[in-house]
Amino acid sequence: MKVFEKSNIDKICFSNRIIRSATHEGMADDDGFATDELKKLYLRLAKGGAGAIITGYTGIQPDGKSPLYNMTMIHKDEFIPKLKEITDAVHEYETPIILQIAHCGRQTRSKITGFPTLAPSAIRDKFYSEDMPRALTVEEINTIISNFVSAISRAKKAGFDGVQLHAAHGYLLNQFLSSHSNRRTDEWGGSTQNKFRIISEIFKRARESVGNYPILVKISAYDNQKNGIRIDEAVEFAKMFQDVGCSGIEVSSGVFEDGLYTMRSEALPAEAAMAYTFKYKTLPSIIKSIATPLLKIFLKQPKPLLKFNLDAAEQIKKTVDIPVITVGGMNNIKDINHVVENENIDFVSMARPFIIQPNIVSQFQKGDQAASKCIMCNYCSLIGEERPLKCYYGKLPKENL
Ligand SMILES: Cc1cc2nc3c(=O)[nH]c(=O)nc-3n(C[C@H](O)[C@H](O)[C@H](O)COP(=O)(O)O)c2cc1C
Repeated sequence: MKVFEKSNIDKICFSNRIIRSATHEGMADDDGFATDELKKLYLRLAKGGAGAIITGYTGIQPDGKSPLYNMTMIHKDEFIPKLKEITDAVHEYETPIILQIAHCGRQTRSKITGFPTLAPSAIRDKFYSEDMPRALTVEEINTIISNFVSAISRAKKAGFDGVQLHAAHGYLLNQFLSSHSNRRTDEWGGSTQNKFRIISEIFKRARESVGNYPILVKISAYDNQKNGIRIDEAVEFAKMFQDVGCSGIEVSSGVFEDGLYTMRSEALPAEAAMAYTFKYKTLPSIIKSIATPLLKIFLKQPKPLLKFNLDAAEQIKKTVDIPVITVGGMNNIKDINHVVENENIDFVSMARPFIIQPNIVSQFQKGDQAASKCIMCNYCSLIGEERPLKCYYGKLPKENL
């Protein structure tokens, strides 16, 4: 395989094998409607050569809304026209666009959603600890399944080439898959099969309404939590995804409680966390000045910083025949070429390199640039709680300091 060749996932035709991975944009209006600002961002990515765009996570129901700034929502038909305008515009550049859909489960705040926080089991999240989540009833699980299915059908109507279920990073579907957050003793918890049930039901019921429309998934193949997901079980899940008709698997890692496991950086951005996350920003400055160095000491940053999910992706690729995407620290064309040409991985996806340079793929292709300019400060992810997506390039805005 070559990076710069046309390729397919199901009937989606990719112009090359470098995908923009889902990146929360915070560019919806206050009611969750997509905006022109969001359209402009996707057009920059399409013009800049991305092989396909996966949107930031999009909410399937209000109680599962992101705690980050202004998530795009898709829980009502009213959201379709603006999204259709966006997909039409992106398609003019022959770039596929896939809608990532999610319910945040316990990784949100009722102060933001206006609803009680829900999860597979009533276990407090160490980061979003202000809310004790309530365990979902079976009826509520069924409503969530229906809302995922309705979101898939709206995505199809809005012209998206496919959807991606967000089953990674500690959000609701990931919470079901992990014994760390799923302690249920009914048919929705316990065995690997039972933990997967919510996903198999989404696929089963979606097929009845959208036929063979492409449905991809993003998973965390491992995390750093006691009783969390480990690669052996992720491989089992991958086989199950293939069996239920999943079109492709993007392999990521980590949950929020791990710290910045999913989007790694050399140093913990403790100053940004103190200034911009709800958890710390209201602390008195004396406490902040003591806590900042302590955070840096105790929240160890995982290594390696590059290609960090490649081993997991390779293990999964050995057991499934569907396309596999590796994400995480894939920031230079040498590694990307190597992975696609020699490691049997079908696609590579990137998030942070596209924030600083939406046209990075055409820069790679023209040979103008060999590596991303992203310095992995991760301010984009922390300040995303308050503001739309932007590259800060290691400079904290002064307002909250
Ligand atoms: C600002 C920001 C927002 C993100 N939003 C999402 C998201 O909405 N959905 C998702 O699956 N991953 C999200 N991620 C994780 C990325 O898709 C990706 O898995 C991670 O950043 C590692 O890839 P990278 O090293 O290329 O940045 C986000 C990452 C960042 C930095």
